[in-house]
Amino acid sequence: MITVNPDGKIMVRRCLVTLRPFRLFVLGIGFFTLCFLMTSLGGQFSARRLGDSPFTIRTEVLGGPESRGILRKMSDLLELMVKRMDMLARLENSSELHRAASDTHLAADRLSPGAGLMERIQAIAQNVSDIAAKVDQILRHSLLLHSKVSEGRQDQCEAPSDPKFPDCSGKVEWMRARWTSDPCYAFFGVDGTECSFLIYLSEVEWFCPPLPWRNQTKAQTAPKTLPRVQAVFRSNLSHLLELMGSGKESLIFMKKRTKRLTSQWATAAQRLAQKLGDIQRDQKQILVHIGFLTEESGDVFSPRVLKGGPLGEMVQWADILAALYVLGHSLRVTVSLKELQSNLGVPPGRGNCPLTMPLPFDLIYTDYHGLQQMKQHMGLSFKKYRCRIRVIDTFGTEPAYNHEEYATLHGYRTNWGYWNLNPKQFMTMFPHTPDNSFMGFVSEELNETEKQLIKGGKASNMAVVYGKEASIWKPQGKEKFLAILNKYMEIHGTVYYESQRPPEVPAFVKNHGLLPQPEFQQLLRKAKLFIGFGFPYEGPAPLEAIANGCVFLQSRFSPPHSSLNHEFFRGKPTSREVFSQHPYAENFIGKPHVWTVDYNNSEEFEAAIKAIMKTQVDPYLPYEYTCEGMLERIHAYIQHQDFCAVPGSALPGTHTSPSPFVLAPNATHLEWARNASLVPGAWPPTHSLRAWLAAPGRACTDACLDHGLICEPSFFPFLNSRDAFLKLQVPCDSTEWEMHHLYPALAQPGQECYLQKEPLLFSCAGANTKYQRLCPCRDFRKGQVALCRGCL
Ligand SMILES: *[C@@H]1O[C@H](CO)[C@@H](O)[C@H](O)[C@H]1NC(C)=O
Ligand SMILES: *[C@@H]1O[C@H](CO)[C@@H](O)[C@H](O)[C@H]1NC(C)=O
Ligand SMILES: *[C@@H]1O[C@H](CO)[C@@H](O)[C@H](O)[C@H]1NC(C)=O
Ligand SMILES: *[C@@H]1O[C@H](CO)[C@@H](O)[C@H](O)[C@H]1NC(C)=O
Ligand SMILES: *[C@@H]1O[C@H](CO)[C@@H](O)[C@H](O)[C@H]1NC(C)=O
Ligand SMILES: *[C@@H]1O[C@H](CO)[C@@H](O)[C@H](O)[C@H]1NC(C)=O
Ligand SMILES: *[C@@H]1O[C@H](CO)[C@@H](O)[C@H](O)[C@H]1NC(C)=O
Ligand SMILES: *[C@@H]1O[C@H](CO)[C@@H](O)[C@H](O)[C@H]1NC(C)=O
Repeated sequence: MITVNPDGKIMVRRCLVTLRPFRLFVLGIGFFTLCFLMTSLGGQFSARRLGDSPFTIRTEVLGGPESRGILRKMSDLLELMVKRMDMLARLENSSELHRAASDTHLAADRLSPGAGLMERIQAIAQNVSDIAAKVDQILRHSLLLHSKVSEGRQDQCEAPSDPKFPDCSGKVEWMRARWTSDPCYAFFGVDGTECSFLIYLSEVEWFCPPLPWRNQTKAQTAPKTLPRVQAVFRSNLSHLLELMGSGKESLIFMKKRTKRLTSQWATAAQRLAQKLGDIQRDQKQILVHIGFLTEESGDVFSPRVLKGGPLGEMVQWADILAALYVLGHSLRVTVSLKELQSNLGVPPGRGNCPLTMPLPFDLIYTDYHGLQQMKQHMGLSFKKYRCRIRVIDTFGTEPAYNHEEYATLHGYRTNWGYWNLNPKQFMTMFPHTPDNSFMGFVSEELNETEKQLIKGGKASNMAVVYGKEASIWKPQGKEKFLAILNKYMEIHGTVYYESQRPPEVPAFVKNHGLLPQPEFQQLLRKAKLFIGFGFPYEGPAPLEAIANGCVFLQSRFSPPHSSLNHEFFRGKPTSREVFSQHPYAENFIGKPHVWTVDYNNSEEFEAAIKAIMKTQVDPYLPYEYTCEGMLERIHAYIQHQDFCAVPGSALPGTHTSPSPFVLAPNATHLEWARNASLVPGAWPPTHSLRAWLAAPGRACTDACLDHGLICEPSFFPFLNSRDAFLKLQVPCDSTEWEMHHLYPALAQPGQECYLQKEPLLFSCAGANTKYQRLCPCRDFRKGQVALCRGCL
C-alpha cells in the first residue's frame, strides 16, 4: 500500500512489512545495498551503526551455490529498486512543483505519473520478499540443525521402520549422502536436515510414510479432475498448423503435407462420424513430443529434408498430429526439451525429482528419443506415468527386447529396447508384428475421375526408381538387371544432387533431382513401374506409387535380412526377418500391384518386366492407409487401449473360474464358449479368440496367418493355463511356470507344458524348433488388420 503524507513524504508501508525477512540477511553480500536502500526509503530505519541495526546479522555460510545464487539475485533486485526509488524521488519533486502551480488538482491526479512506477517497485519488493522468504527458510532449517533448537522435532524425524515402506530408511541414507547431487531436492525444500529428507520422501516421492505432525490436508490436495468434454470431429486444420510451430525445415515439410491433405481429412472425418454414429468419445489431453526433432537428440533430420533424407518419420508424425486433431482431442506439440519440461512440470535441476504437478495429459505420443528425454527428466514420475506413453517406433520392438531383465539375461539387449512397456505401447509404421500396435500413416486417395484419368495417361515403358539418395545406385551387382530394365523401359530417378556436381547415377537414367511432392506424384501418375533396389526398407513411397497406378517391383531377399546379417537392422530391438524390401507390399497387397522377384535371376527378372508392361492395373490404396482408415484405427486405440489398468488374471493361481473355452467341432482349435461370459474391458472382445497349437518351430504370427487370422497378444493371458492345453487334448506330463518369450508352449519330447510367468513377455513373434507354441488368434477387418470385426 502506497500513501502520500500531507507533507509529500512517501511511505512504502508494504515494503516495510514484507522486507522483514531481511533480518536474516547475510553480511557481506547485501548489507551495503540494504543500508543504501534504507537511506533511500527516507530514513524510516534510522539504523546507522551496526550495533543497533534492526537486522540480526548471521555469519553462517550458506551451503552450496544455489543459495549464493539466490542471494545474488536478491541483491540485484534491491539495486534495481534503489534506482527506481531515486527516480521516484525526482518525480515527487516535480509533482510538488506542479502542486504549487495549481492547487485545484486532486491529489490522485498529482500522483499519476508516479503511480505506475510505484506499482513496479511494489512488484519488485514482492519478488525480493519472496526470495528473502526462501533464504529465511533455508537459514532457519540450518539453524535448527546446528543449534538443535527443536530437539523434539528431531525425534519426529527419524526414519520410521514401517513394513509398508521397506525402502524408506535406505532412501533417507541415500539422501543424506547425495541430496546436493541435484538442485531439484533443494527446490522441494530439502536442506540437509533429517526432517527435510523425510518430508521430501513422504510428500514428494512415496518411499516413506507421511509424517504425523505434517499438515496432511496440505500434502494431500487431491489433483482436481477436469470435467470430461466430448470430442467433436474437426475439419478445419488451420489451428493445428499453428500448434505445430515453425522454424525448422522438418516442421515446414510436415505442415505442407497437412495442408495438402486437409480436404481428405475433412471428408474422412465426415465419413467416420457417420459410421460411428453417436458414440461417446471423451476429449483427451494429448502431448505430442517429437523427440527426433529436438536439438538435444541431434535433430539430424531437419538439415536433410532438402537433401533427400528419409522423410518417412515426418510423414508419419504429420499424419498422427492430423488424425489426433481431426478426432477432436486437445493437443500440445513440443519439439524441444525445454518445451517438454515446461509442459510436464519438470522442477529445476537435473531431472531426478518427480514432476511438480500431476501429469496434465491423458496420453503422450513420442519416439525413442523423446522416451529417453522423459526418463531423464521425470524422476519417479516416469514410472508412474509411463503407461500413458505411446512410442512411435518405425520398425517395432519385440517383447523379448522390451523386458529389461530378460533381454539382459538372454542376449536381447540393444541400444533401443528394455523399457518394460507393454509391447502394444510401441506403434509401428507398418503392421510388422501384432505384438506392437500398428499406427501407420496415410497416402493420398484418388477419386474415380482421377483414377480414370491416370489409367488413360500411363506411359507403358516408364519406370521410376525408389530412393532419393545416390547411395542406392552404388553397390555392385546392379548392372545386370539395370541393363535388362533399360532394354525395355525408360528409367527415371529422383536422386538428390548438388548443383555443381553431376548426379552419381548411370548416364542412361533420366534424373529429375529431388522433386516436391506434387511433382513427384505427377511423375508416378505417368509411370508404369516403380522399382526398388533393395533400400530403403519399408517406406511410404511404394504405397504412394501403387495408389497412383504403378506396379511396384522389388527384390526378394534370400537369405532374409535381419539384425543378424544386416547393418541397417543391427541393434534394432527386433529379430524380424525381412524377405523383401517392402514386406507389407508383398504380403498385404501382392499381385498384380506388387511383384517380388529374385533380381539375380535374369530370366525371372526379365519375365516380370515383360508381364508388367502388358498388365493393366487400377490405382489401389489399402483402406488402412486412407485418412478414414487411420482415423478409425487411432479412434479405436484411444477408446480401448488402457495400459494403466491393473493387469488381469494372467498369473499363477488366479485362474479359478471354469474354463471359458470349448474345442471347435472338428477338434483343431479352441474357441470362446458361447455360454461363457465375456471379460469386461477386454479389447479386442474375447469372443473373437481362436487358439491353435502351432507346429514345432512356427511363430504365432505365422501360425495365425496360416488360418487367415492374426495373432492377438492381448489374448495370451486367457490361454496361459494348463486347462487350455487339456482342452486342446494335449496331455501335459508336467506343467511349469517360467519366464520365456515363447511360452505358453509344449516342449518335445516329453510332453512338458510351459506357462508364462511374466505377462510382459507374451509374444506373437519368435519360434524355436523345440517348441510347439500355443497361439491366440483373431479375425480382422478387410483392409484394417489392426481391428477385429467386433472391435469398433
Ligand atoms: C528535490 O528538490 C529539492 C529542491 O526543491 C532539491 O534540493 C533536491 O535535490 C531534489 N531531489 C531530487 C532527487 O532531485
Ligand atoms: C517478479 O518475479 C516474477 C517471477 O519470478 C517475474 O515474472 C517478474 O518479472 C518479477 N518482477 C519484477 C518486477 O522483477
Ligand atoms: C493445512 O493446510 C491447509 C491448506 O493449505 C490450510 O487451509 C490449513 O489451515 C492448514 N492447517 C494447519 C493446522 O496449518
Ligand atoms: C478455418 O479457421 C480459420 C480461423 O480459425 C479461418 O480463418 C478459416 O477461414 C477457416 N477455414 C475454413 C475453410 O473454414
Ligand atoms: C476429383 O478430384 C479432383 C482434383 O482433386 C477434383 O477437381 C474433382 O472435382 C474430383 N471429382 C469428384 C467426382 O469428386
Ligand atoms: C545377388 O548376388 C550377389 C552376389 O552374387 C549377392 O551379394 C546378393 O545378395 C544377391 N542378391 C539377392 C537379392 O539375392
Ligand atoms: C474346422 O472348423 C473350422 C470352422 O469351425 C473351419 O474353418 C476349418 O476349416 C475346419 N478345419 C478342418 C481341418 O476341417
Ligand atoms: C458351458 O456349457 C458347457 C456344456 O455345454 C459346460 O460344460 C460349461 O461348464 C459351460 N461353461 C460355462 C462358463 O458356463
